[in-house]
Amino acid sequence: MNPLQEEIIALKKAKNAVILAHNYQSREIQEVADYVGDSLGLSYQARDARADMILFCGVHFMAETAKIVNPNTKVVLPDLNAGCSLADSCDAPSLAAMKARNPNTYVVAYINCTAEVKAISDVICTSGNALKIVQRIPKEKDILFVPDQNLGEWVQEQTGRPMKMWQGNCYVHIEFTHNSITRIRREYPDAPVVAHPESSRAVRMLADEVCSTEKMVHYCRDNPAEAFIIVTESGMLHRLRRELPHKTFIPGPTERCACADCRYMKMNTLEKVLEALETGEPELVMPQDLQQKALAPIERMLDWSRN
Ligand code: 13P
Ligand code: SF4
Repeated sequence: MNPLQEEIIALKKAKNAVILAHNYQSREIQEVADYVGDSLGLSYQARDARADMILFCGVHFMAETAKIVNPNTKVVLPDLNAGCSLADSCDAPSLAAMKARNPNTYVVAYINCTAEVKAISDVICTSGNALKIVQRIPKEKDILFVPDQNLGEWVQEQTGRPMKMWQGNCYVHIEFTHNSITRIRREYPDAPVVAHPESSRAVRMLADEVCSTEKMVHYCRDNPAEAFIIVTESGMLHRLRRELPHKTFIPGPTERCACADCRYMKMNTLEKVLEALETGEPELVMPQDLQQKALAPIERMLDWSRN
C-alpha cells in the first residue's frame, strides 16, 4: 500500500464509508475497496450497505443505481463526469416515443443506461443475468432490448427469443476486431479466449467463453488452462491477476494497441477518492420521483436474478 492508499483506508473507517469498485477500476483503487465486482454484484452490495456513505468507484449509471436501491445512504462518485457511451446512446424521450408507437413492447434495459431510461423500462438486466431475465418475460410480449445492440444480439442467440435492438454500443468493446483477436489467438494457441458480450458478434464467435466480468473470474479459476486471453476493458486484468496470481492473463488487443481503457472508468483516481472521502462531495443527487420510478424495474431484476 502506498501512503495515499493508507490515508484512504484510515479515513474510510473514520467516516464510516464503504468503497465499492467496479472491476475496471485501477489496481490502486481496487486495493482500497471493500468490494470489487461487476454491475450485478455491485447493485446487491449497494442495496445491502450499512454505512454513512457509499463511495462508488465506477461510472455515473452505477452510482445512480446504488442511490436508487439504497435511497437513505449518501452516494458519492469521485468524478460526476464519469459517463458511459451506452448510457449516452439512449435518451428517455426517444424511448418513450418508441414505446407509445408499440404498446405491446416489453422494454429490457441493460443497466448501462440513465435513471430516466430505467424509469420507463419494464425490467433491468446486467451482462451477468441477462439470459435469466429474458427467459422470464411473458411469451406474448414483444421485447425491445436497450441500449446495447451487441449484448442484445448475444442474448437473442443464447435464448432464441427474438428481440428488437436499440442501436447503442460500448466504444471500448467495439474496438476489438475479428483480425486483432485472430492474431493473438495464433500467438497463444493454448490460451482460451474470454470475451465480454458487449463485443461484436465477429469477436464473440472466436471466444471460448462469453460472460460478465465477474463470471470471467470464475471461468478462469475453474478452467485448467494456465493462460487466458481477456477481451474486455483493461482494469479486468488487475482483478484477475490479484485473484489468480499463479495464472497468466493476456490483454485482448484492438487493431491499434493492447490498451482497452474506458476513459470514463479511468476518470476515478486515488487523489479524487481521497478528496471525495474528505469532503463528502461530489454527491449523487436525484429527484425522489425519478428514484422511485426507476426502483421497480431494478427490484424486478434483483428478484428474478435470485430465483
Ligand atoms: P459487467 O457488469 O460485466 O461488469 O459490465 C459492465 C460494463 O460496463 C462493461 O463494459
Ligand atoms: Fe460504458 Fe463501455 Fe465504459 Fe463499460 S467500458 S462503462 S460500457 S463505455
